[in-house]
Amino acid sequence: MHLLRARLSLHKLPKWETTVRRLAPLAGTVRGPNAVPLRSGQARSFSQQPSPTTLLLGRSPLPFQAHPPTLSRRPSRISPYSTTVTTPPSPTQEPTIHPVFEPTTCTYQYVVADPATQTAVIIDPVLDYDQCTRTVTTSTADSLIALVRGQGYCVSHVLETHAHADHLTAAFYLQRRFAELQEGARPKVGIGKRIGKAQQLFAGRYGVGKAEYEGVFDVLWEDDEVFKVGELRAKVLHLPGHTEDHVGYWIGDNVFCGDSLFHPSLGSARCDFPGGNPHALYRSAKKLLSLEDHVRIWTGHDYPVEGKRAPAPWSTVADHKEKNVHLRHGISEEEFVAMRMGRDRRLAAPRLIHESLQVNIRAGHVPKELRVPVQVQAPLLL
Ligand SMILES: [Fe+2]
Repeated sequence: MHLLRARLSLHKLPKWETTVRRLAPLAGTVRGPNAVPLRSGQARSFSQQPSPTTLLLGRSPLPFQAHPPTLSRRPSRISPYSTTVTTPPSPTQEPTIHPVFEPTTCTYQYVVADPATQTAVIIDPVLDYDQCTRTVTTSTADSLIALVRGQGYCVSHVLETHAHADHLTAAFYLQRRFAELQEGARPKVGIGKRIGKAQQLFAGRYGVGKAEYEGVFDVLWEDDEVFKVGELRAKVLHLPGHTEDHVGYWIGDNVFCGDSLFHPSLGSARCDFPGGNPHALYRSAKKLLSLEDHVRIWTGHDYPVEGKRAPAPWSTVADHKEKNVHLRHGISEEEFVAMRMGRDRRLAAPRLIHESLQVNIRAGHVPKELRVPVQVQAPLLL
């Protein structure tokens, strides 16, 4: 357990930095700041939230094993719907996928393994953080370790889709633990090559020294870079829009899209963070929806409606083209951008934005102190 002390700084800040203090967390049946506009005065107590140590394994407690497709299913990955030509990373191999839902931040984490070699990657792991006590714990990450050990996997990479603003990454913790457990076979932490820009931006805002964030990621992926997960080939897809540095990972007939597409009933991720761009997100979505209909899009978050549906880690390209409320076939870029900008104006900042950004630009290294800006509404105090 590692205790953090928050340092307060008093200064005027733009909306995305301050609304977390002015507005209460979302109440009601839909969880997560990305999901719906905030309604003030509907605070949800922390005691109402699920335990951070509770894990839900996707739609089923069983791992997902896709069946290798036949050649006849692959005449082309590019449908008439396509806006960008992409080449698949691998012709036939499919991974074993373990989706692990972290209910406090509604984050989907993934363990993705090559069944032939038992080599695995972990995508977007969560470090538990209690904002009331400012305490970081590792229950969720330890559960991922138990899953990996139980399956007999060897972890080659911990992969980030972007610098998250709503949860802390467990990348550094997992790297250290697996280096011990795998007798020195230290997993590499990978993220898209544009992370440097985000690191500089947020380091400036939070006063983080260069030495604390430079070189913390082992691999900075190029766009369309292909790398191996055991004998599987994985391909990096640049998917800007939610953030500029955002990437997805395409493995077999699966794309782990992070905060690009959500469940079809929720649509898409917000685009109002620094570097966010709704036009870019529309084009990234079209890139994803240009893949073959059966390809599974594994989301970075889900915000299920309690009592109505369970968290769902994936939907197919066909599902999104038919049902995605923001991006289904027939919705133009102009319509999407107008909708997205309108919704984003009404969204509160994520509850853990300050803690998340400061830890995540450090790849999960947790400093002894974090800065949390406050909104001062009494002029005499300034
Ligand atoms: Fe995000």
